[in-house]
Amino acid sequence: MTDVSAAAAGQAASLTVRDNRTGTEYDLPIVDGTIKAADLGKIRTADDEPGLAVYDPGFVNTASCRSAVTYIDGEKGILEYRGYPIEQLAEKSNFLEVAYLLIHGELPTKAEYEAWVHEITYHTFVHENVKGFMHGFRYDAHPMGMLMASVGALSTFYPDARNIDDPDNRHMQIVRMIAKMPTLGAWAFRHAQGKPFIYPDNELSYTENFLSMLFRMSEQKFAADPRLAKALDVLLILHADHEQNCSTNAVRSVGSSQVDPYSAVAAGIGALYGPLHGGANEAVLRMLKRIGTKENIPAFIEGVKNGNERLMGFGHRVYKNYDPRAKLIKKACDDVFEVTGVNPLLEIAQELEKIALEDEYFVKRKLYPNVDFYSGLIYEALQFPPEMFTVLFAIGRTPGWLAQWNELIQDKEQKIARPKQIYTGDRTLTFVPAEERWA
Ligand code: CMC
Repeated sequence: MTDVSAAAAGQAASLTVRDNRTGTEYDLPIVDGTIKAADLGKIRTADDEPGLAVYDPGFVNTASCRSAVTYIDGEKGILEYRGYPIEQLAEKSNFLEVAYLLIHGELPTKAEYEAWVHEITYHTFVHENVKGFMHGFRYDAHPMGMLMASVGALSTFYPDARNIDDPDNRHMQIVRMIAKMPTLGAWAFRHAQGKPFIYPDNELSYTENFLSMLFRMSEQKFAADPRLAKALDVLLILHADHEQNCSTNAVRSVGSSQVDPYSAVAAGIGALYGPLHGGANEAVLRMLKRIGTKENIPAFIEGVKNGNERLMGFGHRVYKNYDPRAKLIKKACDDVFEVTGVNPLLEIAQELEKIALEDEYFVKRKLYPNVDFYSGLIYEALQFPPEMFTVLFAIGRTPGWLAQWNELIQDKEQKIARPKQIYTGDRTLTFVPAEERWA
């Protein structure tokens, strides 16, 4: 019975807990399917003893906020942004409209949409000094490191961004960040290649402009194949938000200190960089290349089952079913490969998926392909090197991070993030100065 149906049946939605250490019973209210962790703090053996706490490494069963941005049902494989199913948005919307939806909570009118696209388009340029410090990175710097550093550095160009209580100011920083992220990502890419940085072209769409900044050489105008620009746009939509994942939690956690949004989003980029999160797409491609041929798959799977390594691009904390984004990406693969020719690694990926989905180890643990399993194949077909894959994820995720940050700032229930710990170290030791210890 849910807490709502309990209330309707005239029963109290509450949890009665008996502390067997003291025999005392406590009644804890249940609201929205949760109890307040602070209520557990009232359970204590004596007034001067600490209250009961929950131990939850990795937050596997802790709600950290109320949010109206994204809904996921991991058992059923459902993902919705602001109530709209991801399948409909991927098919019928575009990235900037989805970004508007995530930030504002509603779809734009025609006038609102045009104003939004105009604003984003005219904030794609960065201060000329940004070029200078991007040139300062070593020739082989990972573009995610460059992106993280340059987004953090934007806070020094816009010191007014710390006025986070002013809604107009927040809007300005949100626009700037969504607009400038492709410019920074493209320049990180060009730096690694020793190629000149290409300035934004305001006549192009968001995705076409990004492709132009990445790939334009001496031509006056870069004309991206519309099918490829559309596929990239769909990929950005699919990555745009995913409720309280590791990087969003990082943005919220850092943002809860009331720092400016550039610093908070830089923290999110750092979290996304890791191979268990956004970095998985890069790891998938390296894994597929290492496997090399279909014949090597059984031995590889055995190694995974023996715990030697993980099947990257499989498994998810929330989805215990096929990740709906992976389904849509698989479809986008067909559109892209129609233009670029089939990526030979596709055959290995498909065979790997087939074997894994029939294998007891993966079935028992409900491990299915996630968003990263097929995305790398598309990115490679679009001529991105693996180091750029997570940058693309970060550009897509930016509206989601900002929508969640904007929600956090206005949420009266939020406090600075500060978890508890269970202390396991020594206590009250007596310090002996070095000259005595080493004598
Ligand atoms: N390959 C092999 N075994 C796995 C895998 C995998 N990819 N994922 C989970 N398991 C096993 C794990 O060993 C454990 O087995 P056992 O119960 O015998 O110890 C069980 O499944 C549960 O795993 P877990 O690590 O407790 O699950 P989690 O919810 O903490 O981790 C995950 C989720 C995504 C980190 C994990 O599934 C993983 O490492 N996957 C590979 C990396 C990857 O593809 N990451 C991208 C996630 S989707 C994009 C994003 O949101 O960032």
